Amino acid sequence: MLSVIIRQYRSKDYWDVLQIDKEAFSPSNAAYDVYIYLKYGSAIFVAEFNGKVVGYITIMDLGEKAKIMSIAVKKEFRRMGIGSKLIDEAIRWCILNDKKGLLLEVRASNIPAQKLYKKKGFKIIGIHPSYYSDGEDAYIMLLNLEEQ
Ligand SMILES: CC(C)(COP(=O)(O)OP(=O)(O)OC[C@H]1O[C@@H](n2cnc3c(N)ncnc32)[C@H](O)[C@@H]1OP(=O)(O)O)[C@@H](O)C(=O)NCCC(=O)NCCS
Repeated sequence: MLSVIIRQYRSKDYWDVLQIDKEAFSPSNAAYDVYIYLKYGSAIFVAEFNGKVVGYITIMDLGEKAKIMSIAVKKEFRRMGIGSKLIDEAIRWCILNDKKGLLLEVRASNIPAQKLYKKKGFKIIGIHPSYYSDGEDAYIMLLNLEEQ
């Protein structure tokens, strides 16, 4: 069993999170992504394996609800339950902070992520047409925490 620790982001994790973001999303500017997480994120958790950061999740406080801004796991560590653990930590954060729900947006084509979210209890509640810069739609998904 892989021994993974989930803990709060520290400033020394910056480069690891940047690399994971770059690998997962191929953004034109990964530093801008991380800047947005740090500026607008209310919590960032990382998954650490053998002293190395192998995944992260960022959460934005929206008042009654919260939203997952981003989640990614390093390629060679996927399908080992790390994404699931990161979502569990986000749910814990929401419960501690009295949130009624946890929202997210996901690309219509991102089946692995949708499968993970459905497994954790998220349901599709809407669609943002042409949400992404390449014109792809986003599904809006919600985990209702009042039912937990
Ligand atoms: C989505 C992501 C974070 C999942 O992380 P992960 O650590 O691989 O997820 P887990 O191992 O916890 O998977 C839990 C469950 O999700 C589902 N799942 C995850 N990846 C899957 C895949 N590639 N295909 C099918 N189902 C998948 C499975 O049901 C899996 O359970 P199982 O392995 O027992 O079958 C990871 O694939 C990733 O970083 N992707 C690139 C970034 C991304 O798309 N982020 C989401 C943006 S909205």
